[in-house]
Order: sequence, then C-alpha cells, then structure tokens
Amino acid sequence: MKIISTISDLRRELAAFRSRGERIGLVPTMGALHEGHLTLVRRSLAQTDRTVVSIFVNPKQFGPGEDFARYPRNLKADSELLSASGADIVFAPEVDEMYPAGFSLSVTVAGVSNGMEGARRPGHFTGVATVVTRLFCLVLPDAAFFGEKDGQQLAVIQRLATDLGLPLTIVPVPTVREADGLALSSRNLYLSPGEREKAPHLYRSLLTGAELFAKGCREASEILVAVRASLENEPSFRLDALDLVDLETMEPLTLLDRPAMLAMAAFLGKTRLIDNVRLR
Ligand code: PAF
Repeated sequence: MKIISTISDLRRELAAFRSRGERIGLVPTMGALHEGHLTLVRRSLAQTDRTVVSIFVNPKQFGPGEDFARYPRNLKADSELLSASGADIVFAPEVDEMYPAGFSLSVTVAGVSNGMEGARRPGHFTGVATVVTRLFCLVLPDAAFFGEKDGQQLAVIQRLATDLGLPLTIVPVPTVREADGLALSSRNLYLSPGEREKAPHLYRSLLTGAELFAKGCREASEILVAVRASLENEPSFRLDALDLVDLETMEPLTLLDRPAMLAMAAFLGKTRLIDNVRLR
C-alpha cells in the first residue's frame, strides 16, 4: 500500500493502474477509521481492481464552533488498518494541496442539501460537495463508496454525480452497527463510558418508527410522535432534529407512499449523534 500526499504522485500511480485496464474504487473518508469505513473498503476491494482511500479532514464542511480542530486525526493507525485491509493507496493531502492559494470552486447541490442537516449546518453540504467533486476529478474513480449512515450526504452525492454526468457508480453501503445497535461513527470516540451505554437508545427509538411502518402505518406524523416519545424515555438525550423524508429528494413527507428515510440527530452530553433507518 502506498501513502501519498501529493496530487502529482496520485496521478502517476493511477495512470499505471489505468494503463493495465484496472477499475478504480474510491472510498472518501476523514480518517479516524472504524469498522464502518473498513466495510466500505471491503466493498470497493470486492467490486473494483484497485482501491484508493482518501483521508482528509475537510475544513470546508465544518461550521464555526464545530469540531474541526478536535476532530480525531491518526494517520499512522489509519494507515495500518488500511494496509491490513488490502487497500492500494491512501491519499492523505494537506489542506493547501487540496485547496491551493486562489482555490475558488464551490459546489452547491440545491434542493437535496437544503433541509435537515443542511438547514442546521449552513454550508456543510457545499463543503462536502466541493471536496467530493475535487476528489472525483483527481481520482476519476469507476465507483465510489459511501455509508448510508450519513443519509442526506449520500443523497447529495448521488444527485451531484447524476447532475455532473460522471461515468461512475455511487455505491451506498448499509450502516455498520455495534452489537447493541449504535451506528459506528468517529464521533463515538467523544462519548464518556456512561454516555456510550445510553447511546444505542437513539437507534432503538428509530426502530419504534420502523416497527410502526412495518405494521402498516403510513402517516408520517404518527411515526414521528412515536419516535420522539421513545427518545424522551432516556432523559440524557436532547433531541435536535427528527425528519421523515423522501429517500431521493430529502423532501419532508406527510404520507409514506414512496421510499423514505427516518432520520434523527440528538445530543448526548456535548456529542451530537445522527442515525437513520430506511422505510420502504
Ligand atoms: O463522510 C465523510 O467522512 C465526509 O463527509 C466525506 C464524504 C469524506 C467528505 O469529506
């Protein structure tokens, strides 16, 4: 496995792969890798010939007062995990390699970025779409792999790839969970042992909604009331957002007559956890 920090070295390696007709998979990450990321890597290894994992804590997607400075960074541990997993290239550029002086591109995917996390974290999805567009252009992958845990991000990137007409497949990968249901996330590292014990309650509350749906309920308001009530059973959580939206457009739904995503964000102490389930 090669660890590369410059675009010129990346291009040289990728050209060699392409000259042999090898298909390239891209797994974009911000590091602090866990089993969820490694699942994306394994999917890429299975579906393509060469796997590039980018590790870049993207300043453009963090708002003022968010956790950019304290976001966990550990290139050495991440590289060891990736080397053991069989990835071919780690692309870990510095900020001025990704955004050199004068960099002015800003990619906004309107509509799908506007609600939910987009409304609560202004500029977040523009930051994500800008870095992902840049990574797509640098790597020119045949397939790129994203987790369903960041459900709105996935919808934004699917729309981005469609609208740019890129010849690549976006592969959604189901959320990986701990045995107790907690969705894997780099931010779980912020939880104290007591908070960690309570954390799976978020997913259990979402499952309350999924169970109602499975029993035939199609009224969004009924499902939202039940999920909110379930979360409130654990007073350590402070609900930040609860949405039931069209899976593709991220528009709020009142009637569940198409594939939907039930998404929640809640604070546990100072840590903001997000999770979602798909209702089809
Ligand atoms: O999901 C993430 O880790 C990031 O948002 C991504 C897609 C790597 C872009 O920085």
